[in-house]
Amino acid sequence: VTGTSGQRSSKALIERFVGARSDPEKVVLEGFHALKHALRFGADIEQACVADLDKLGTLARSLAPDLEARMRAITQPVSSSAFNALAPVPPATGVIAIARRPQVDLRRVLEGSGLAPVVLLEAPANLNNLGAVVRVAAAAGATAVLATGTHDPWHPSAVRAAAGLQFAIPVARVGQAPPTEGPMVAVDPEGEPLCPGAIPDQALLAFGAERHGLSRELLAAADRRLAIPMRPGVSSLNLASAVAVALYAWRFGQT
Ligand SMILES: C[S@@+](CC[C@H](N)C(=O)[O-])C[C@H]1O[C@@H](n2cnc3c(N)ncnc32)[C@H](O)[C@@H]1O
Repeated sequence: VTGTSGQRSSKALIERFVGARSDPEKVVLEGFHALKHALRFGADIEQACVADLDKLGTLARSLAPDLEARMRAITQPVSSSAFNALAPVPPATGVIAIARRPQVDLRRVLEGSGLAPVVLLEAPANLNNLGAVVRVAAAAGATAVLATGTHDPWHPSAVRAAAGLQFAIPVARVGQAPPTEGPMVAVDPEGEPLCPGAIPDQALLAFGAERHGLSRELLAAADRRLAIPMRPGVSSLNLASAVAVALYAWRFGQT
């Protein structure tokens, strides 16, 4: 590869990643963990680039031996200068990829939801919280994570914070709380104390924004309000921590 054709292909690669960031059908996976979970949960990877193939091999052998061969087969080594231009903050694990977003048919997801709760976030303000919610919801076996407001749960920063677990659970932005089979439970510091077994099956669990909490409209629409008990003087939990407590309260209540 001559210097000029190498520069041309780096430029094309950078443009591809820039284009993927604003393409609603694609998602940029920043880092090893995002790519690992995306592959485990069936993502369609369009392009994967690695700055150091040996480092990728070492990471894969220790953290995801099930995927080592696959990762080696799909990743394209690129120069470190090209790699560093593919993300605003280049992932320290030295790997970045573009995948296709799975389509979420919300009606089907909610109709066939089974007993596990659906998490509804009302206008979350912080993409790291949004990602952390997706991560714990996937781990706890929730049905879906829905978010109102302006933030996209598929934003690369949210995907990074979720370690790519958007591929493990239906995740979507919605205009408003969707109609569901089960009750709507507002998880709110002013509710009745959450005790074991208090979260019903098929619940839509609504959580408020980091600063303002749940809106009056959502609180009024809820069938009940539950509070996570806290020591006096503590005003609230972090949003993702509150989601974790509520989901595991449901999960531990299952026989
Ligand atoms: C950081 S809190 C918002 C704090 C806000 N000032 C309020 O009073 O609701 C973000 C969301 O996490 C949930 N949350 C946090 N701590 C909670 C608690 N102790 N009990 C129930 N929900 C809680 C609620 O859904 C809340 O809207």
